[in-house]
Amino acid sequence: MANGTEEIPGPTGLPFLGNIGTVDSEVPLTSFLNLADQYGPIYRLNFAGNPVVFCSSWELINELCDEKRFAKSIKSALKEVRNAVHDGLFTAKMDEPNWGIAHRVLMPAFGPLSIAGMLDEMHDIASQLAMKWARHGSSVPIMVTEDFTRLTLDTLALCAMGYRFNSFYHDEMHPFIEAMGSFLTESGSRFRRPPITSMFYRDSTHKYFEDIDLMRKTADEVLKARKENPTDRNKDLLTAMLNGTDPKTGQKMTDSSIIDNLITFLIAGHETTSGLLSFAFYQLLKHPEAYRKAQDEVDEVVGTGPVKIEHLGQLKYIAAVLRETLRHSPTISQFSVAPIQDEIIGGRYKVPKDQPIVLLLAKSQMDTTVYGKDADQFVPERMLDENFDKLNKEFPNCWKPFGNGARACIGRPFAWQEALLVTAMLLQNFNFLMDDPSYQLHIKQTLTIKPKGFYMRCSLREGLTATTLEHRLSGSEPRMDAHNAGVPVAGAAAKNGNGRPFSIYFGSNSGTCQGLANRLAQDAPSHGFAARVVDPLDAAYRDVPSNEPVAIITASYEGQPPDNAGLFVNWITSLKAHEMEKVSYAVFGCGHHDWFETFHRIPKLIDSMLDELGGNRIAQIGLSDAAKGEIFTDFETWEDEVFWPAMSEKYGIKQSAEAEAVPALSVEFSTPRTSSLRQDVREACIVDVKTLSAPGQPLKKHLEIKLPTDMAYRAGDYLVVLPLNPKQNVIRAMRRFQIPWDAHMRIRSDGRTNLPINESLSVDDVLGAYVELGQPATKRSILSLAEATKGTQVKETLQNLAGNDYAAEISAKRVSLLELLERFPEIELPFGTFLSLLPPMRVRQYSISSSPLWNPLHVTLTFSILESPSLSGTEHRYIGVASNFLANLGVGDRLHVSVRPSHTAFHLPLDAAHTPIVCIAAGTGIAPFRGFIQERAAMIGAGRSLAPCLLFFGCRDPDADELYRDDMDRWQAMGAVDMRFAYSRRADHPDAAGCKYVQHRLYHDRNDVGRLWEKGARLYVCGSRDVGEGVHQAAIKMMAGFAKEHDGQEMSEVEVEKWFQGLRNVRYATDVFD
Ligand SMILES: Cc1cc2nc3c(=O)[nH]c(=O)nc-3n(C[C@H](O)[C@H](O)[C@H](O)COP(=O)(O)OP(=O)(O)OC[C@H]3O[C@@H](n4cnc5c(N)ncnc54)[C@H](O)[C@@H]3O)c2cc1C
Ligand SMILES: NC(=O)c1ccc[n+]([C@@H]2O[C@H](COP(=O)([O-])OP(=O)(O)OC[C@H]3O[C@@H](n4cnc5c(N)ncnc54)[C@H](OP(=O)(O)O)[C@@H]3O)[C@@H](O)[C@H]2O)c1
Ligand code: HEM
Ligand SMILES: Cc1cc2nc3c(=O)[nH]c(=O)nc-3n(C[C@H](O)[C@H](O)[C@H](O)COP(=O)(O)O)c2cc1C
Repeated sequence: MANGTEEIPGPTGLPFLGNIGTVDSEVPLTSFLNLADQYGPIYRLNFAGNPVVFCSSWELINELCDEKRFAKSIKSALKEVRNAVHDGLFTAKMDEPNWGIAHRVLMPAFGPLSIAGMLDEMHDIASQLAMKWARHGSSVPIMVTEDFTRLTLDTLALCAMGYRFNSFYHDEMHPFIEAMGSFLTESGSRFRRPPITSMFYRDSTHKYFEDIDLMRKTADEVLKARKENPTDRNKDLLTAMLNGTDPKTGQKMTDSSIIDNLITFLIAGHETTSGLLSFAFYQLLKHPEAYRKAQDEVDEVVGTGPVKIEHLGQLKYIAAVLRETLRHSPTISQFSVAPIQDEIIGGRYKVPKDQPIVLLLAKSQMDTTVYGKDADQFVPERMLDENFDKLNKEFPNCWKPFGNGARACIGRPFAWQEALLVTAMLLQNFNFLMDDPSYQLHIKQTLTIKPKGFYMRCSLREGLTATTLEHRLSGSEPRMDAHNAGVPVAGAAAKNGNGRPFSIYFGSNSGTCQGLANRLAQDAPSHGFAARVVDPLDAAYRDVPSNEPVAIITASYEGQPPDNAGLFVNWITSLKAHEMEKVSYAVFGCGHHDWFETFHRIPKLIDSMLDELGGNRIAQIGLSDAAKGEIFTDFETWEDEVFWPAMSEKYGIKQSAEAEAVPALSVEFSTPRTSSLRQDVREACIVDVKTLSAPGQPLKKHLEIKLPTDMAYRAGDYLVVLPLNPKQNVIRAMRRFQIPWDAHMRIRSDGRTNLPINESLSVDDVLGAYVELGQPATKRSILSLAEATKGTQVKETLQNLAGNDYAAEISAKRVSLLELLERFPEIELPFGTFLSLLPPMRVRQYSISSSPLWNPLHVTLTFSILESPSLSGTEHRYIGVASNFLANLGVGDRLHVSVRPSHTAFHLPLDAAHTPIVCIAAGTGIAPFRGFIQERAAMIGAGRSLAPCLLFFGCRDPDADELYRDDMDRWQAMGAVDMRFAYSRRADHPDAAGCKYVQHRLYHDRNDVGRLWEKGARLYVCGSRDVGEGVHQAAIKMMAGFAKEHDGQEMSEVEVEKWFQGLRNVRYATDVFD
């Protein structure tokens, strides 16, 4: 390698167009980041003859921030922005005199005193936002970016030029904002398009210049109004521009330059800050501990009065949150420089003078050299003043969201003061929830980035009402109301009925616990109670009702709370005294014993914490193991035998005579057809289907799916699929109830239900989409069948099935309600009751078997189809709902999906060049590893060198069910993987080295694994539960051997097990499910 002779890597492009097709037109950033993963810290693209270099490591960014060698470049999209604002501050070239004049005239106006003087006006607009949210109440989802955009635009316009857009008084955004948004997007697109294609974009061009016109007219009006009505506002930016004189040249700013800069401020100052606030609230809601610390800090520093200037400097944790937010999501995700002379960068790449180089902050600020192995985690602590200073000293230019040197952001103090004030004011007065707890971050990009489709809900904090908030914001003494006087919690207020009120909270990711919470609310009236709220646990954050009983139903995920319970759990575990003395509670927990170490961790933790904090336990905790498949039965048993009797005793309420009756749904059949889907999934489309297994073998398939727009994923993530029931099962149910094929119905219900109510729906749709038909019947549902039976013999049989025979005859054989109805035709169960007894349709998860470096818009799935003789012994075969739904899809078919991230540890290491990996899979467990290796192949194809990867794979026979052998051979030839096989039914095959199962092969090749382990390898396992267990045992044996061989240490398997468990999710990650 000779200096300057190494070619900068990059994808080849098309003649004329170059790499235009390589870059996603809606979110170019995603493509730039993926290309950085693929090609490494430097790559080049060519946009219709304009070459651009992209750099993304801290080392390169640090080099490029040397202003003696590199200057801001206005050649990229900024060149197009000049169409509207010419040589305004942001877009001026270094040698344009107007930049220097405006810069020197305006610097004093951005000084600390001037900015501090703007606090009252910032407070004015922030209060408008707070009052709007207070009046909306907790049931209305807040479109976060829109309201923050209103806030930042109005703040900037008021503070900078004394102009009120009054955005909070209009439903529609001001036309200026729409014009600015489309102008910025189009500026980015125009830059990437070849000029020759401009004739195809006449309409866009026309609109582009209309937008410019509107923006300039608005700014001109502001300027004229000020000239006609001079004010005594001596601190705003417009005054500075009108009256200021450049100390160097003695010149004043021209009207045209003032208009350029007015628009520049509006553009540069509002989207950036609005994006920062939106990302910050997203991160706080995703990181409950950070949320709690930030809120505690506000309470401590500010208390209940208005936020004042002297508080802002003391909000150290919130400042760290904002810094960490801008590290993760720099709202200006890149800026450009160009060499002043021909240069060699990175010690080896030649870059000619004036060649634009993009500093890709969204990647460089994730560099593990600076931020360590957890660089991709959100950790505000690393940004606390002392740590922040240390980082910047050791790694200069490692945090650059405000740009560099002379051309760095002039508005930084303005943005910082506004962001601190608004974050503090909101946390002081509200509690927030994600509207959709499983929301995953999507990006919307113009010249800046912001979260897309991010909604939250808020409720006023304890004791506050909209009126008292108004007092508080205005600085007059707030009048506190009684506990719970605020806006009712989170939208789900139940009908009070006549019962005694109680509250139900759930922590749930995939809907089971939420379903149980609804079931409890449904059952309450017959026990003399009425559920006042049925809400996510986070809605009870700092606000657990103390004047009525509280029931909590929750799951655990990897020992952590579900997405909608993190804030609550973090909060109660931070309490020390007797804060729950007035709270009466009962907890029910769902878990899965495969998570041995953390089985039921969260429900048990909540139950014991509430007790420790002085709470009054109404009933013993109820627990259910999902592995046994009897959650609904376990819950009903707990309800009937533990919870309701305890409630009735404590509150002296007699159960109603109809306590056992299931609240039936009233059903009316009709003809019009509508349908509605209520799950958080969006429409995707099948692009390719392949059968992977040989004919006559258990079926395994491969699907390629085009994701809904802007749904992003990482290799190793899951795709959540909302399936439809197999047609055969729907037909069976309709036949049993003798419902005609084209029948429609309207469901009415007084209680809670997961079914769509008061809509006319086809029966076929409801049975196909809304309920699980194949789940085992619960004891209570069997008793309902008994109630609906006249014949004493059948009644007795059913009662036995719900009693002593339940485990052997129903649970073990997984007999469904439908099967019982078919078995006993004499049962006269109303269809409405049948519907109300069925659990709601669940989503299923599948490991994504592709990498976004292959295609960021498509995913592939690799799955086995569950279809076998029914365990119950009926003539009908057991047909797995989701696997058969997927198996029956063809190219062009639609389905509903969403991406759910897998555990952080189940992703490729950030430092792929130095961290070896060992993957172990059997059958379709290969899915996530196919994604990993496809990603590694893309990186190697782009010229990167990577640490080694071993993949152990087990199947029955290479001729029967070997998955992706051709792909794997190709990737092995590139060095992306080193494959090791085990064939359970052809162990004598030469490739299997005599090994039947994958764990045998792992142990057989343990020396190779040992070598990688010593170099810091990470181990990943995926497959069925049995495979997981087998591999675990083999790994323990292998590790005990390493300890003996390498360290001469004799360790028992128990000791190795303990040590190994400590590495779980650090160097050892499993994805093992049945
Ligand atoms: C995070 C995660 C990732 C996953 N990734 C993948 C993947 O990449 N590929 C893949 O193939 N799968 C994967 N799975 C499994 C997948 O989600 C489904 O569980 C699987 O496809 C079966 O779903 P189903 O709807 O077809 O079956 P369901 O209708 O849900 O039926 C399954 C239930 O039926 C029971 N059952 C099984 N056989 C019978 C029988 N003969 N009679 C009566 N009852 C029976 C089972 O005990 C089980 O409780 C993953 C699971 C998880 C949790
Ligand atoms: N992310 C995830 O969690 C994820 C992803 C994909 C798949 N899965 C799950 O993984 C499982 C794999 O299903 P599949 O149908 O593809 O597998 P499969 O074809 O039934 O089995 C694959 C291989 O594993 C062997 N095997 C059976 N028992 C084993 C044991 N105790 N130890 C080691 N190997 C064993 C089988 O051998 P014999 O049949 O000859 O005994 C066969 O050779 C499913 O349960 C699926 O749901 C989970
Ligand atoms: C969180 C909020 C903000 C962020 C992340 C941010 C980021 C940046 C960045 C990265 C640059 C340099 C761009 C480049 O080199 O091409 C910049 C420049 C600039 N910013 Fe900001 N900005 C923010 C808020 C503001 C505000 C509130 C204002 C106005 C009040 C403002 C006005 C400007 C101006 C005028 C420039 C050009 C400076 C020059 O080149 O002289 N910015 N900003
Ligand atoms: C990725 C994953 C991790 C899990 N981790 C745990 C755990 O640590 N402890 C536990 O008891 N159960 C664990 N479970 C099981 C769930 O808690 C259980 O399936 C529960 O019923 C889910 O409830 P929900 O549908 O309301 O989210 C896990 C399940 C999954 C899919």
